Amino acid sequence: MNVATALPPPRLEDLADKSFNPFALERLSHGDADDPYPTIHQLAAQATVHKGSYRNLFTTVPYVQMGPLDHYMVFGYEAVTRVLTEPETFTNHEAFKHNLGVSFGLSVSTMDAPLHSRYRNIFQKAFLPNIVAKWGESVVDPVVDELMGKFETTGEADLVEQFTHHYPFGVVYRQLGLEPDQAPIFHKLAIAQVQSAIGLPQGAEASSKLGRFFQGLLDLRRAEPRDDLITHLATVEADGERLPDEVVISFLRQLMNTGGDTTYRGTSVLLVGLLSNPDQLAALAADRSLIPQTIDEGLRWEPPVLSTWRYVSKDGVEIDGYPVPKGATMNVNIGSANRDPSKFKDPDAFDIFRDRKVRHLAFASGPHVCIGQHLARVEMTRALNALLDRLPNLRLDPDKPAPDIRGHHLRVPDHIYVRFG
Ligand code: HEM
Repeated sequence: MNVATALPPPRLEDLADKSFNPFALERLSHGDADDPYPTIHQLAAQATVHKGSYRNLFTTVPYVQMGPLDHYMVFGYEAVTRVLTEPETFTNHEAFKHNLGVSFGLSVSTMDAPLHSRYRNIFQKAFLPNIVAKWGESVVDPVVDELMGKFETTGEADLVEQFTHHYPFGVVYRQLGLEPDQAPIFHKLAIAQVQSAIGLPQGAEASSKLGRFFQGLLDLRRAEPRDDLITHLATVEADGERLPDEVVISFLRQLMNTGGDTTYRGTSVLLVGLLSNPDQLAALAADRSLIPQTIDEGLRWEPPVLSTWRYVSKDGVEIDGYPVPKGATMNVNIGSANRDPSKFKDPDAFDIFRDRKVRHLAFASGPHVCIGQHLARVEMTRALNALLDRLPNLRLDPDKPAPDIRGHHLRVPDHIYVRFG
């Protein structure tokens, strides 16, 4: 008699050095600046382009993978938009092969056209609004429910430690069908892999362990398909073409950072904006139709990805009359675009009722515009609704330190102490 045996799910292997704590080192990578915006405003008011590295304004920790490239910073809404939307001049591969390319491999962020358009086209089919909307109920709600169930009756909480730092990652784990005991190892490896950027050997070790795991998962889902993201990515086609495994694996390696880390930061800073402006929080609690504009205001005010990079691929390029040489790395300051006073009145203020005629650039613009933006909105909407429904009279805890958003590149507060009920 033939008995069909199910394939065992692949298992993740922890880092060899169990004492290595990548979370403690995150600040080294993203900076510990309390508020970079006064410096950004000052430089933007002087000129659109400045020679030098944005990172070096705030930290002396070397970015070992950036190499000896010449850095130029670009500020302001118009110039940032131009750099992001002129991919034939300002390219990705040369800018990211040293860092994201090392950590993740052949990810879409490291590609230029025509390769980028070819693969992005296929990925996009897995992230269409109608597909992503379904994940709200099946994937996001159970994660939010479980986390909130642990503290909603206690009257007080640290919303970072107990909620925002977990729910977007929980969404990723559910999408991967990760076993509960594997989740902490997965989170640790995902954060460790980007620390190649500051020269730590655990970065490469984490990338290779995640790569082996994802290959196993792709093989498993092809053998035993499910209605989930991995099966979708393993089988999705556009114009008769499927994604090569190497490209899917790089995408999945990047998912914790692109999908988890950004949403964790975006939700945290949005809550700081709301809790620091109780009148706006009360208005939102009373009228949930304000949620989309509230999410957009949080993303405008404190974009979770404050800066990105592009490479100047041509001779004779000028930005606002300022020459930038071929071979330079542009440090593209999304934060300065989102707080450009010529586009946004009183730009440092968090105001969910502000005029929204100008689109913020928190999801970037042009061919690399965030592929997961619909999912991020679904996640943040579900999280906000749950917090407002289940934590009545939500307010900052007056006896604990106020939230302090830190970092020059990826920003987040360590704690948001609240009371409710
Ligand atoms: C609030 C949440 C999010 C923010 C602020 C954000 C921001 C961004 C930004 C600024 C970029 C462009 C970077 C550049 O061009 O240099 C980007 C690209 C990307 N994002 Fe997001 N993101 C968020 C959520 C997500 C989610 C949930 C996913 C995954 C499912 C995701 C997947 C990606 C991918 C794969 C890219 C690369 C696209 C390409 O290069 O073609 N993001 N994101």
